[in-house]
Amino acid sequence: MISEDKIAEIRDRAPIADLIGNYVVLKKSGNSLRGLCPFHNEKTPSFYVHPNRGFYHCFGCKASGDVFSFLMHVEGKTFPEIARDLAEQTGVQLPVYDAQREAEFQRNKKQSDRLADLVEKATSFYCEQLYEHPDGGIARNEFLDRGISEESARKFRLGYAPHGWESLAHFLDRTGASPEDAEAVGLIVPRRSGRGHYDRFRHRLMFPIADVHGRVVAFSGRALSPAPSMEEQKEPPAKYLNSPENPLYHKGEVLYGLHEGRVEIRREDATVLCEGNFDLVALHQAGFQNAVAPMGTAFTEAHARLIKRFAQKVVLLFDGDKAGRKAVREAYTTVNKLGLSAHVVSLPQGADPDSFLREQGAESLRTRMVRAPTILEYFIDDPAASVEPNPHAKADAIGNLGPILAKVESPIERGLYVERVARKFGITDVGLVRRELRRGLGRRSDRPAPPRDAVRQPIATPVSELQSKLISLLIDQPTLIHDEGARKLPKLLTSPDLRAIFDSILRMVDRQGSLDVTALLDELNDSQLRPWLEAKLAVQEHDLEEARQILDEGVPMLEQKNIEHELPRLQQRIVEARRVGDDALAAGLTREFVELTRSAHKLKSNMRQR
Ligand code: UTP
Ligand code: MN
Repeated sequence: MISEDKIAEIRDRAPIADLIGNYVVLKKSGNSLRGLCPFHNEKTPSFYVHPNRGFYHCFGCKASGDVFSFLMHVEGKTFPEIARDLAEQTGVQLPVYDAQREAEFQRNKKQSDRLADLVEKATSFYCEQLYEHPDGGIARNEFLDRGISEESARKFRLGYAPHGWESLAHFLDRTGASPEDAEAVGLIVPRRSGRGHYDRFRHRLMFPIADVHGRVVAFSGRALSPAPSMEEQKEPPAKYLNSPENPLYHKGEVLYGLHEGRVEIRREDATVLCEGNFDLVALHQAGFQNAVAPMGTAFTEAHARLIKRFAQKVVLLFDGDKAGRKAVREAYTTVNKLGLSAHVVSLPQGADPDSFLREQGAESLRTRMVRAPTILEYFIDDPAASVEPNPHAKADAIGNLGPILAKVESPIERGLYVERVARKFGITDVGLVRRELRRGLGRRSDRPAPPRDAVRQPIATPVSELQSKLISLLIDQPTLIHDEGARKLPKLLTSPDLRAIFDSILRMVDRQGSLDVTALLDELNDSQLRPWLEAKLAVQEHDLEEARQILDEGVPMLEQKNIEHELPRLQQRIVEARRVGDDALAAGLTREFVELTRSAHKLKSNMRQR
């Protein structure tokens, strides 16, 4: 637990404009900064950052919050993680609650920082060797021949691990890194003789793999055709060699490309899952910057959870072969379990994303993505397209779909899928399909369907435009709350929600002389108008003079409006009192009526004089 005070201190010190500016290009717009929202896809900027208030808001997707929530969303990290990072960056000392745990944390951090530092050095070394080593050209040609540009290579920091058995080992030696550490991260391997180490990666094109924090934690090295100067090899090396698991790297939990693609993944609310290193780099280069790839393993639950921090949708883009089909089936269980929605892009037999992009281009792939069927539709379409055209095979294939379709919760959706089965398998009688599906239900799965997303509620706007205008002036210029006009507001505001906002502003101004945006939002957590308020807080519309002027004009207008609203009611009550014979009441109400009419006249003539 971190105290509110500390959180506020960090929030005050954190340069929100710079921090958000790392992800979004911001331009000045009045008192705010404006840019393209990183949380949804848009062409005209509706994302505002208000540096003085430490607050952002998107008028398009309604995302809003402070620097903590921004970083949590965009980095997919937890609040404590972000708080720790920011505390360190802003020099705020966090108190230690559990000394033992803190000490352990610091020990682990120190170790992982040291290992990450070493891996980082190795990454730079491999990058340099790509250009400096006499055989670096072999690695460069490997990706250039496949259409990967130098620019992409730099972005992904591709490198070359030289042959010779001790290039990296010697380099690390010179930098003073400990051989134990280098061995721990799997970069060097102890010699069987017991003395010294040799490089694990030799004569390979190196793909450095970053974790979500952006630290390189592992490598995937692709075999290259041998260099003339190399000694004869006994057997051809494996196509890929990956770092072994190590304190920094658990392969089931790392997705290649996630760090590079996380902002785009969030923006698209979708990630493209492919399988190969080249595919990943080629996809990013072709503009699919939301692509990720597991590290030569199946798609795990940990992967899915990682993706879920950033997006709800996964587009499966596997090779067009048997293995690719199998991978889709396996991914289905995982995706379903975590409630991610999945689509499948199928590629022609024998193609992988990398070759497809080279042969058919990005537009062609984009079209396939846009038209990609849901994974369930794919499960229907794929067998329907390949099944033998005899009744028995068809019935069998349809029966296989039973358990999958039974899991679809919505009857409407299920009905549509059943119709699709009929259409794709060329059967006119939908009832027949239904019976066949039911027959295949023997292996009905137990898992409940994933929860659906809550429907987005439309934003509640305040009842009266004038009333909300006056309140937004006070949000912009809180000190005006003690002006004569504003002091009349509590009596004039007819919306309880607006009155609550007024009360909160008054309390804050009295207590601390200014408005604390976060506290205000907290206080009004349950208010219907909270989203409206968030939008208001994002842009400061009025300077002091302007606000005072509008307030001076607006308050009498509101008084007048209220009177105009009140008069017919009074009249009604007078009629009522006369009818029941209560003359005293009728007389009192009439006096009130006359007085109100008079003040209305006065207000009107005052307003005319301005
Ligand atoms: P692929 O064989 O499809 O490799 O394996 P690729 O990336 O498309 O490479 P090219 O196009 O043949 O050059 C897909 C992924 O599986 C892992 C790697 O991560 C690879 O990118 N893999 C593959 C291994 O870990 N080890 C292997 O021996 C082969
Ligand atoms: Mn390939």
